[in-house]
Amino acid sequence: MISKLVKLRNNQIKPKWFLRQAGRHIPEYHEIRNRHENFLDFCLDETSIVDATLLPLKFYKIDAAILFSDILLLPHCLGQKVTFKKNLGPSLEEIEINEEFFKRKLSLDTLLPIKKAIYKIKKKISPLKELIGFCGAPWTLACYMIEGASSKDYTKTRKFLWNNEKTYFKLINKLTNHCVELLEYQYLAGATVLMIFDSWSNMIPDKYWVNFGIEPTKLIVDRLREKNVKCPIIGLPFKSGEMLIQYSYESSVDIVSIDWKTNLNWALKNINKNVVSQGNLDPVLLCCSNLSVIKDEVYRILNLTKDKCHIFNVGHGLTPDAQIKNVQYIIKLIDNYS
Ligand code: CP3
Repeated sequence: MISKLVKLRNNQIKPKWFLRQAGRHIPEYHEIRNRHENFLDFCLDETSIVDATLLPLKFYKIDAAILFSDILLLPHCLGQKVTFKKNLGPSLEEIEINEEFFKRKLSLDTLLPIKKAIYKIKKKISPLKELIGFCGAPWTLACYMIEGASSKDYTKTRKFLWNNEKTYFKLINKLTNHCVELLEYQYLAGATVLMIFDSWSNMIPDKYWVNFGIEPTKLIVDRLREKNVKCPIIGLPFKSGEMLIQYSYESSVDIVSIDWKTNLNWALKNINKNVVSQGNLDPVLLCCSNLSVIKDEVYRILNLTKDKCHIFNVGHGLTPDAQIKNVQYIIKLIDNYS
């Protein structure tokens, strides 16, 4: 870990990869997807995990593979039924956050195909490439578990928080412990970078931002370090606004993902200088038909990060209509930039 981060910090390498790079924008993905009716069966099938993880490396000269998985496997392993309805996103069974729930253990046995897939992926990729394992941050997991689905504003979750503050803290604490278990599991299997997705951190009421946006991630990272997990850890506090700065100082992550909405110039001036940055490119730009528009944006980021430790990436996941040729064009621009 350390040597790669030092190289990055000394600006000797300019790594690149793309959030959600294995997803639906690659036609071959659908062939793998169609092997399974249920999306979670896909996420728990060793061969399909290997195939989907390696797929983007066949199209793109990138520095990392991201494990094909999903953050909602964690609630699944806690016994909450998760289904994915076509074009509707995830649907989670309604659960009572009660004493019985707090006693539930995370079924790591369910994840055996992931461990086996990681072994296989590691054998197939160059040792110079990273394999990124990940989990959802406790706040984002709690949002899905309480709301039961994706939502624009997570009203049900926030109502639950304001009405049951103590229980909510207990839930976040439980999920924090499980995130440590899950990430350690992926690390021991062979993941070389870990990432914590707080995709809904923009829904945390201001009063609780430090409690739920920063402290759980800090606890996860600190506990992993106590367990001798030595790889770089990336945090994604999505659309966290000015809280990004405090997050960069206090969350213990090594790398902070900057979303597409954030002013990169401001972020680079203000974030903790010991933290590496990643991201900021608007993923929707990859659906754009005008190459000069794409070029301007890529150059804007390359120019701003010229003397910084920055991993080129999108500021949120690639969308299903992202164009393969645009991703390839961006990679060429980065490689030819000096
Ligand atoms: O490169 C990759 O695509 C790697 C795998 C990956 C998936 N999910 C596969 C997936 C990763 C890194 C995730 C993380 C994830 N999952 C997040 C955090 C990142 C983010 O986008 O903010 C979140 C919030 C989820 C929860 C989730 N899973 C949702 C909301 C959905 C439905 C819509 C969507 O975003 O795709 C999923 C399903 C899902 N996870 C798909 C894939 C490829 C699509 C399923 C399908 O093929 O129908």
